[in-house]
Amino acid sequence: MNKKINLKNGDCIKELKKIKANSVDQIYADPPYNLSGKSHQTVRSGKPVTLNKGDWDIIDNFDEFNKSWIEECVRVLSEDGTIWISGTLHNHPSIGVILKKLGLWIINDVVWYKRNAPPLLSCNRLVPSIELIWAVSKSKKYFFNYEMGKILNGGKQMRNLWEINAQRHLTNHPTEKPENLLERIILLGSKRGQTILDPFMGSGTTGVVAKRLSRNFIGIELDNEYFKMAKDRISEVRGKKIIISDKKLLQDEDSLKLVYDNISEN
Ligand SMILES: C[S@@+](CC[C@H](N)C(=O)[O-])C[C@H]1O[C@@H](n2cnc3c(N)ncnc32)[C@H](O)[C@@H]1O
Repeated sequence: MNKKINLKNGDCIKELKKIKANSVDQIYADPPYNLSGKSHQTVRSGKPVTLNKGDWDIIDNFDEFNKSWIEECVRVLSEDGTIWISGTLHNHPSIGVILKKLGLWIINDVVWYKRNAPPLLSCNRLVPSIELIWAVSKSKKYFFNYEMGKILNGGKQMRNLWEINAQRHLTNHPTEKPENLLERIILLGSKRGQTILDPFMGSGTTGVVAKRLSRNFIGIELDNEYFKMAKDRISEVRGKKIIISDKKLLQDEDSLKLVYDNISEN
């Protein structure tokens, strides 16, 4: 297990500028959604509280911010690479307009459905239980492991509706993503030995999964505490491993072998 892991503690717009053009194969970005603030509420331990993910989630010039980091991501992405961006309707209108203006090819808009999303205490609207994930590329020629999608979906074509439960957090980062979500994204969008970049690394979920799946990883995080959290978490990864949420779909030996072949280093 000798994958290159390159972690940068700083602002992603500045750090991305130092990375060579066309040098990254896949980017997963889980940016600030800009949803924190007094008027938003969420549920913690069964009680309503003001939604505050941190100062990093309150951005004045949101469109300008999104344009700057997306432009840099496009610059560092290889010609057949893909960018996957998470969000909700708080950030996706801004992101969507920028993706179109930059002339990117929209491969998919994935709806991530969390069946176990927390109940809505205010009882005045529908319970938010989805997030969106855009998958985009520079042109119509991009790497996408369609067969892997079928394998992970019990031999049937994978749809753009993914049911993946929210998981109990492994760290105290407020917006930690489930490892099995990243596993699916990385298996679909990259090959063993390629380089994955996450400009908003947070607790390091993308790096953990990339390392386990025998990919190189570049991670950028602004906050010192989260940076250390990610660094420690990634350094603890030993050996290759798959965790696939829908193990029942992968029970036959041949399918499992195909997935392991994708992550083995020969
Ligand atoms: C939505 S969280 C990412 C969570 C991550 N996916 C995980 O699983 O832990 C966004 C992260 O981006 C960081 N961040 C915000 N603005 C940034 C910037 N300009 N450059 C780098 N990191 C930034 C925040 O500190 C936060 O940890």
